[in-house]
Amino acid sequence: MDITALRQSWSQLAVAGPEAAKYFYATLFVTAPEARAMFPVDMRYQEDKLLAALGHIITNIDDPDALTTFAHRLGADHRRFHGADREGRSVQLSERHYTWVGQALLATLQRFLGPRWTPSLSAEWASAYEAVAKLMLTGAAESERLTPPFWQAEVTSVERRRVDVCVLTVRPNYWCEYLPGQSLPTQIPALRTWRYLSPANAPRSGGTMEFHVRATGRFSTHLVRRAAVGDKLLLGHPVGTALSAYDRAPHRPLLLIAGGTGVAPLRAIVEELQQGHGRPTTLVVGGKTPDDLYDHQALLKLAASSPAAGWAGSSAEPWLRYVPTVEIGWGWDGEVGRAVDTALRIGPWADADILVCGSPAMTRASMAALTECGVDAASVLTETYDHSHYPPLSAARPPAPRDLTWTGAR
Ligand code: HEM
Repeated sequence: MDITALRQSWSQLAVAGPEAAKYFYATLFVTAPEARAMFPVDMRYQEDKLLAALGHIITNIDDPDALTTFAHRLGADHRRFHGADREGRSVQLSERHYTWVGQALLATLQRFLGPRWTPSLSAEWASAYEAVAKLMLTGAAESERLTPPFWQAEVTSVERRRVDVCVLTVRPNYWCEYLPGQSLPTQIPALRTWRYLSPANAPRSGGTMEFHVRATGRFSTHLVRRAAVGDKLLLGHPVGTALSAYDRAPHRPLLLIAGGTGVAPLRAIVEELQQGHGRPTTLVVGGKTPDDLYDHQALLKLAASSPAAGWAGSSAEPWLRYVPTVEIGWGWDGEVGRAVDTALRIGPWADADILVCGSPAMTRASMAALTECGVDAASVLTETYDHSHYPPLSAARPPAPRDLTWTGAR
């Protein structure tokens, strides 16, 4: 396979930006109208995700191990997308769906590469795509024995903590294996679109998950305003690689910096540490005002229940230190400042692992402030919830209760 030619032509296509994605979908939907119903009505969020992933895979085709893991997991996750036949019955993704996507991909490359698109380049792309499609289909077939195409989760409690924030507890119909720090694609069936939510708890024996939702768009506003006990949500396969891949060995201090609902995956990590041997951990949670610290009471309780475990060399200190901080706080007697500034003030963190989770702006600003103060960027983990990499799932998880065990496709 001529990797250089594949990479070069991919970067030439990338210059076209969103135009290429638009052309790709237009071609797909014209040649295979059946595929249209599988995608959301509003394609702005999907944009170039599929195309970007294709490019990522094909240009990494010389790293077979990474590619195989990636494509298998993506294929398994694609089981949540299903079409409908003429009678409206649900149809799983099969080879013919992959053929449509392959044809649209090649047509897009041909359109944007113009005279640089040669028969030999076309053959390179066709065989690279075929290899990836095969891996995705294999991943999907293999996962059928292990996981359902998606989980149906029933909302078991709804707490409205603020006018724009709610905390939902859901119970999936089958055991859903995830790592603290990961997130799950979630669908409100009536809206059809998928968005990512991170469990705020480590896996529990009953399988329930707590999601923190802040109303920022149609999906989240729907949940915050209208979610009710008994509602059903669909969950896809967990994704996320960075936060969940934190070093679980308890030898270095851990600094967790959270903003907004970014506290959820970090709280799940704290719970996981609590179930293990603990580890000197500082959780700094920031908000503009005290009102933003919607999970304050739960975090106080968690910190109060963390036993003494040799924090900073002293066995008298609990292993978890919770530091709430606000930017504007009349009458607030805690820390004042952005989460990252407070964290830096209470440092040093030269030998710490650092995890940051919040809005993209908060994450970028925190990263900049940390590196400006001499923190090695390699010791800071942040998450972009996409399908770039997958960490192996650890074997040390609570076993699935019998009534939640998936026993294969039926
Ligand atoms: C090698 C082939 C493919 C690759 C690399 C790929 C990749 C992706 C990626 C990365 C996403 C975004 C997932 C997310 O972030 O939630 C996605 C979404 C999706 N893909 Fe694929 N895909 C492929 C083939 C297909 C095929 C054959 C179909 C069916 C015709 C399909 C249907 C969908 C649908 C319906 C979505 C969700 C759109 C949404 O709700 O936003 N994909 N794909």
